[in-house]
Amino acid sequence: MAEVHGQVMAQLDQFPRLVLDQLPTPLLPLPNLSADLARSVYIKRDDLLGPAMGGNKARKLDYLMAEAQALGAVKVATFGGLQSNHARMTAAVARQLGMEPHLFFFEHRPQHLRGNLLINQLLGAHMHFIPFGGGGGASMTLETTNWLVRWVARARLGRHYFIPVGGHNRLGCLGYVRAALEIENQARGLGIEDAWVVMPAGTGGTLAGILAGLTLIGSSLKPIAIDVGKLWKTFSKSIAHMATELCLCLQVSHTIAASDIPLIEGRYVGERYGIPSAAGNAAIERLARLEGILLDPIYTGKAFAGLLDQVKQGGLGRDGPLIFWHTGGSPGLFAFPEQWSDPAGDIWLEVDLG
Ligand SMILES: Cc1ncc(COP(=O)(O)O)c(C=O)c1O
Repeated sequence: MAEVHGQVMAQLDQFPRLVLDQLPTPLLPLPNLSADLARSVYIKRDDLLGPAMGGNKARKLDYLMAEAQALGAVKVATFGGLQSNHARMTAAVARQLGMEPHLFFFEHRPQHLRGNLLINQLLGAHMHFIPFGGGGGASMTLETTNWLVRWVARARLGRHYFIPVGGHNRLGCLGYVRAALEIENQARGLGIEDAWVVMPAGTGGTLAGILAGLTLIGSSLKPIAIDVGKLWKTFSKSIAHMATELCLCLQVSHTIAASDIPLIEGRYVGERYGIPSAAGNAAIERLARLEGILLDPIYTGKAFAGLLDQVKQGGLGRDGPLIFWHTGGSPGLFAFPEQWSDPAGDIWLEVDLG
């Protein structure tokens, strides 16, 4: 395997990349959760990556912003949901590189800018709120949505470097092929084999990259993603197409079919994308209280709820190790303070000093 690993890495190195991050991110055991679930659980800390409170988009932006810089971009534009971590991190990296960030949101401007929106404001990002209705509901494919927004951004900004939602194109997703090689090395070092690797899927680029990378090197790790949005029409097909394109980019002709995509769709979304779910919130509290690690209510909380439920249902086998890929998103916690306030929670001890 070492030889193939080296070949894939050599292909990856052909693509210019900024080194914005401290890599590798830690792969750590979760001893208290492991005792609770009676099986070994590890966490991959991509929440520790990147600027302005970090997250998984750092790995995609390493490649995307290298291209923006090489093209001499002055303005960079992208889009997402109101609590898009990708938009926030794109704005931060753009500022780091002296570019002007433009973020498009297809919703009304909220009265209060909270969570990621507050950070965008601090970064001086230009936020364009265009209330088209926010899309979603799987009424369009991811590819059509990107095509439409690219057109809107061009009409509004003129010349700029456009990044698709979630940094989702071949170049961005190469960041997660690289991450697959990284986790395989770490897992081997810790003696972890045949582990399920559970992650959230928003645009599916993280999964596509990891799946392509692990497949190319013949890893025993088994990726599986929890859909957090019910956002896209023919989602598995889109992920399969991206994973196949990534293999091609790295000079390997290997077709990944929609039926090969390990995606649990719809089941752990709750009401809809961008709205916290009761199960997600409970999962956030469980990990916080057992391990002191914070997830977020839009992506990782829902994905972790999926992991816990799948363990209960036997969907991830009865034993054997599990790895949860923490993709970040902590600013989202501060966007929904009402989810966590507990008026009955405080006990006041009244002392009569008279
Ligand atoms: C914190 C967090 N986790 C997971 C994801 C999903 O990643 P992907 O879009 O690559 O599926 C995103 C963004 O969409 C995110 O911000």
